[in-house]
Amino acid sequence: MTEPVLSVRELRVWYGTEHGPARAVDGVTFDLRPGEVLGLVGESGCGKSTLGRGVLGLLPRGAHLDGEVIYQDRNLVEASAREIQRLRGPELGLIFQEPLTRLNPLLRISEHFEETLKAHEPDLPKGEAKHRSIEVLRAMGIPPTRYRAYPHEFSGGMRQRIMIALALVLRPAFVVADEPTTALDVLVEAQIIGILADLRRNFDTSLLFITHNLGIVAEACDRVAVMYAGRIVEQGPVNDVFARPQHPYTQELLRSTISLSTTGLHYIPGAPPDLINPPSGCRFHPRCPKAMQVCPQRFPERVPVGPQTVECWLHGPDELMPDGGREILVREEITVADEA
Ligand SMILES: Nc1ncnc2c1ncn2[C@@H]1O[C@H](COP(=O)(O)OP(=O)(O)O)[C@@H](O)[C@H]1O
Ligand code: SF4
Ligand SMILES: [Mg+2]
Repeated sequence: MTEPVLSVRELRVWYGTEHGPARAVDGVTFDLRPGEVLGLVGESGCGKSTLGRGVLGLLPRGAHLDGEVIYQDRNLVEASAREIQRLRGPELGLIFQEPLTRLNPLLRISEHFEETLKAHEPDLPKGEAKHRSIEVLRAMGIPPTRYRAYPHEFSGGMRQRIMIALALVLRPAFVVADEPTTALDVLVEAQIIGILADLRRNFDTSLLFITHNLGIVAEACDRVAVMYAGRIVEQGPVNDVFARPQHPYTQELLRSTISLSTTGLHYIPGAPPDLINPPSGCRFHPRCPKAMQVCPQRFPERVPVGPQTVECWLHGPDELMPDGGREILVREEITVADEA
């Protein structure tokens, strides 16, 4: 197996709030190999964006970071702001959610590209910079004839593709794409996925692809990590996780997506918890259809299940299971309004 580009170990991120720390990422571990696309999925508020930004050292003020993000034998969590700044762009890229956040309306597309390259690769000859920019734009479906146009001359979908090209022109080793396709129509979405797949083949770029669209994950990702309440509760190869989801939360997420197009609406009752005071033990227990006595009592360990790793007491470890732990958790039924 090739060495990972990035190893994240027990990463924690918390935000200071007036009610106490909000533990948005609470002990996350994963590896990313060269050219690999890891999909990160889960409901809103589970910590996906915080994880993506934390890995790149791009957290807002007041956020605290702990654990390891190993990149080229260094722990980025302990690196100085200056060192991270130097890596950002040429090594570590970020594709933002909002297409216009980084395009300056007063500058031509060509200027955006040439300035970005000049800032990070000052020795690159101008002709080469132009060549590389046009190539990556072409790969994103923007023809060379539009190279000198202004941002407002493009549709939202095209601007989004330009943004992605701008992140990729520096050929970063690792890119975080945070829901890059949410605002786009289905056709453009499919196109972008195809192009991302080409680019990683050509440049060996590894991607952390944050999305709530499981269809995209099935199509574009090698592995998937399912996040719930600040933890990765299941991860593994996409085909295995989708064919044989092992964690009840993954099972419910998949069911909610599948049934949308087939047998009508299924959604997971309740909502992800408040991360200031999360539920005890397994954080999914208040919503879990398979909860057992042990679940609210003890935090589940990360255990291997085939090619997956799962944090759920259904999969052990048996030696840590307390007496009676496997009995069904009895709790009050949550009733919808009483009929009068
Ligand atoms: N700047 C912030 N200050 C305080 N809490 C935040 C901040 N950003 C996010 N959070 C909280 O962290 C949790 C995870 O948010 P986020 O990472 O955006 O999740 P996701 O991307 O999965 O929707 C949420 O409970 C959110 O309210
Ligand atoms: S540990 Fe218990 S509550 Fe949590 S997902 Fe597994 S069965 Fe459900
Ligand atoms: Mg988010």
